[in-house]
Amino acid sequence: ANAQIATWYQCGGFSWTGSTTCVDGSVCYQLNPYYSQCIPAASVPSTTTTSRAPAPTIPATQHWFSFGDSYTQTGFDISGAKPSAENPIGNTQYPGYTACGMVPNWVDFIATKYNRTTLLTYNFADGGATIDANLVKPYTSTVHSFSDQVNTFLDNQANVSWTPPNTLFTIWIGINDIGNSFWLEGDRDAFSDTLLDAYFALVQKLYDAGGRFFQFVNVPDIDQTPLMLAQPESSRTAERAVIDGFNAKLVSRAASFKTSHPGVSSGVLYANYWMGFLLQTPTTFGFKDNSSYGAGEDVLWCNDYHPSSRVHGYFAKSVANVLCGLFTIC
Ligand SMILES: *[C@@H]1O[C@H](CO)[C@@H](O)[C@H](O)[C@H]1NC(C)=O
Ligand SMILES: *[C@@H]1O[C@H](CO)[C@@H](O)[C@H](O)[C@H]1NC(C)=O
Ligand SMILES: *[C@@H]1O[C@H](CO)[C@@H](O)[C@H](O)[C@H]1NC(C)=O
Repeated sequence: ANAQIATWYQCGGFSWTGSTTCVDGSVCYQLNPYYSQCIPAASVPSTTTTSRAPAPTIPATQHWFSFGDSYTQTGFDISGAKPSAENPIGNTQYPGYTACGMVPNWVDFIATKYNRTTLLTYNFADGGATIDANLVKPYTSTVHSFSDQVNTFLDNQANVSWTPPNTLFTIWIGINDIGNSFWLEGDRDAFSDTLLDAYFALVQKLYDAGGRFFQFVNVPDIDQTPLMLAQPESSRTAERAVIDGFNAKLVSRAASFKTSHPGVSSGVLYANYWMGFLLQTPTTFGFKDNSSYGAGEDVLWCNDYHPSSRVHGYFAKSVANVLCGLFTIC
């Protein structure tokens, strides 16, 4: 019964009743549940050289709640079709309505190109939005401010099966607050604090609802838009001072929010670096200059106030570089 079996002969398997001992130098190796064979020990496939560390678990779907203005809008309506794998921005048809028309913006690029899983994207951004219409009036009263957008989120989030660690919150707001108010009388620096008090009170609501992963996007160089280039230099300088003050305060507010809220992972995305870089070296990126606007691939601006789709592509890429490793956007 303990006879030794020669190399390459059967030594086991379903209904096998014979010996399972191979000659010296061979081992009984199971090829399948029905058949085992004596094979030279040296040819046993190594489990140590072929096994790899398990791949990090990437959830099948993740959620992104995005808040902002025309630099972010895709025309999403919460009462319409919900984000799905087929159309991660829900409605309208991808890429939606952006500030440049039906061409992708940074949200579109991230949701379809830099996502590493299905990224169900609820983009509440609305063109013209300010933080709170009571602080800075939008150009028309139907605009949904950041405050309105947060309320829409709160009213609907229970029906979205999101979980905190797998959900990204981005807030890109402040462009219209500054653009619509920088020339007003009064202490603009103190007003930036008032704006940011309202801003972070709204972020607190998102936190209270369970939000833990936040990215705050700062205000880019809107003083260098073609619209503002047509204004006197003194206007641009005044606006620039307010932008710089607001951005500096945003960084410190974001840092103190993070330290005072356990479990929060957050950061600031520097839209001004990205835009400043393109403005300084437009030809490096294939743009003819930093002030032309209209249709075409070689213009930095699609109209006199909004960066073109290709510029959004560069921004999306830089966001993906920052979030790579922090979130499944890479
Ligand atoms: C990225 O999102 C698109 C649209 O939902 C999807 O088709 C694609 O499979 C996603 N990519 C990955 C790597 O999951
Ligand atoms: C949430 O889902 C429930 C059940 O499907 C539905 O009755 C309710 O109207 C939904 N609420 C919202 C705000 O969509
Ligand atoms: C835009 O381009 C002009 C001409 O090259 C340059 O003088 C200016 O500094 C650029 N603007 C910015 C904001 O870099």
